[in-house]
Amino acid sequence: MIIAIDGPAGSGKSTVAKQVARMLGFQYLDTGAMYRSVAWYALEHQVNPDDVDALARIAQEKSIEFRAAQDDAQPSRVFIDGVDVTGEIRTPRIDKAVTPVSAIPEVRSALVLQQRAIASTHNVVMEGRDIGTVVFPNAEVKVFLTASAEERARRRAAQNRERGFGEVNESAILQDIIRRDEADSTRAASPLKPADDAHMLDTTDMSIDEVCETIAAFARDLL
Ligand code: DC
Repeated sequence: MIIAIDGPAGSGKSTVAKQVARMLGFQYLDTGAMYRSVAWYALEHQVNPDDVDALARIAQEKSIEFRAAQDDAQPSRVFIDGVDVTGEIRTPRIDKAVTPVSAIPEVRSALVLQQRAIASTHNVVMEGRDIGTVVFPNAEVKVFLTASAEERARRRAAQNRERGFGEVNESAILQDIIRRDEADSTRAASPLKPADDAHMLDTTDMSIDEVCETIAAFARDLL
C-alpha cells in the first residue's frame, strides 16, 4: 500500500508521515531530503546553479540512501555518495538552494524513478509535493496537508530551536515559507497542488495525534 502525503513547507508532513508509518509498520520516505541532498552535493562541489546538465547528472548518478539510525527515536540518516548529510541538508542555505534544483525536470525524473523503486518492494508512507499527482497517481491513500503560513512558520521556528540552530528569526522563516510556497506552486515541472482525489486536511487547529489517527483510519479502512 502507498500512502501519499503532500503539502507545503511546514504543514507537518514529516512529523505526521513518520508517525503514521510507525503506527502501521510501513516504511517512511522523505522525498524532500532527496532534493535537498542533490542541492547539498551541488553546493559542496561548486556546481554552477545554472548548469542543468550537471545538476541532472548528480541526481542520476550519485546514490542517495536512507539508513535507520542506531536509536529508534532518531530520524533515519541520509547519505549522498556515501556522505552523511542528515544535519547539513536542513540548514537555511539548503532551504534556498533546493528551490531551483527541485524545479529541474531532469532532476525530478531521476529522483521519481528512485522513489518508485523503493515503493515497489515495501508498504510506504511517502511525503513530498507531487507524490499523489505524479509519483503515485494510483496511491491507495492520498492526503494533502495544509495550515496557515503563520502557523507553519511558528512550527518551523520551534523545530529549528529544538535542533539547536541558535538565534531563530520567525519573521524571516515566514518570508521564506511564503517564497517557497510561491516557487513550488508556480513552477512548470510538477507544481505543488492537491490531487483531485486527495483528502484535504487543514492542520492549523489539529494536534499531531489527531492528524495521524485520521490518516491511519483512511488506510485501515482499506487494509
Ligand atoms: O519538504 P522539504 O521542505 O524538505 O522539501 C525541500 C524542497 O524540495 C522544497 O522546496 C520542494 C522540493 N520538493 C519537491 O519539489 N518535490 C518533492 N516531492 C519533495 C520536495
